[in-house]
Amino acid sequence: MRRKIIAGNWKMNKTPSETVKLINELKPLVATEDADVVFCVPAVSLTIAKEVAKGSNIEIGAQNMHFEESGAYTGEISASMLTDIGVKYVIIGHSERREYFGETDETVNKKVLKAIEHNITPIICCGETLQQREQGVTIDLIRQQVKIALLGVTADQAKNVVIAYEPIWAIGTGKVATTEQAEEVCSAIRKCIAEIYDDATAEAIRIQYGGSVNAENAAELFAQANIDGGLVGGASLKADFGKVVNYK
Ligand code: 13P
Repeated sequence: MRRKIIAGNWKMNKTPSETVKLINELKPLVATEDADVVFCVPAVSLTIAKEVAKGSNIEIGAQNMHFEESGAYTGEISASMLTDIGVKYVIIGHSERREYFGETDETVNKKVLKAIEHNITPIICCGETLQQREQGVTIDLIRQQVKIALLGVTADQAKNVVIAYEPIWAIGTGKVATTEQAEEVCSAIRKCIAEIYDDATAEAIRIQYGGSVNAENAAELFAQANIDGGLVGGASLKADFGKVVNYK
């Protein structure tokens, strides 16, 4: 039985002082023994978030990192900087980073490899636009994104990565994918993992759904056979996140 993983992606929201307040507010609400709970906060708040979350079940994650070890990459953050402060997760290849910051399947792959090298669990995002869904290429596209993201990743390493299926048309729109649509793609991702590696790896890997997840729809989505939790934007910034985490 795969353990659920429910992660909040705060995106570019909350200052460090607001972060302290929000984590303290959410701490009792997201307490659970049934799932891993991760707050992916802005880079500038990672250190303080780690401190405030200490002693709770909340793990802190980053929203991005660079694929090089160190060097002349102004404004970037390295894997070692994240591990130095105890960050265990990093979102890689979110559609907003692909759209606004030039991330490609290739840079996603490099970042995934670097994160794994540093024992940081990558939450690898994939997802199609509305146009691609209407063109009927969703599964082909997702398979390509997943396959390239995992190039050079061994089966043992792959067992610990998290894949987040986030249809772009469902992000921040309030237009959640139907449970059938979400389960269809998550199941296709698992099948793709079985093809790349083997059944044991496919069974172990955790696949999240993301895109307008909230307190009302979480239970049905997370009950699907191939959906192992969620990557949550808007609803992770309020008390509702407690209900998403304790969805049962
Ligand atoms: P929303 O939950 O706000 O739709 O955002 C989803 C998302 O992009 C999480 O990474």
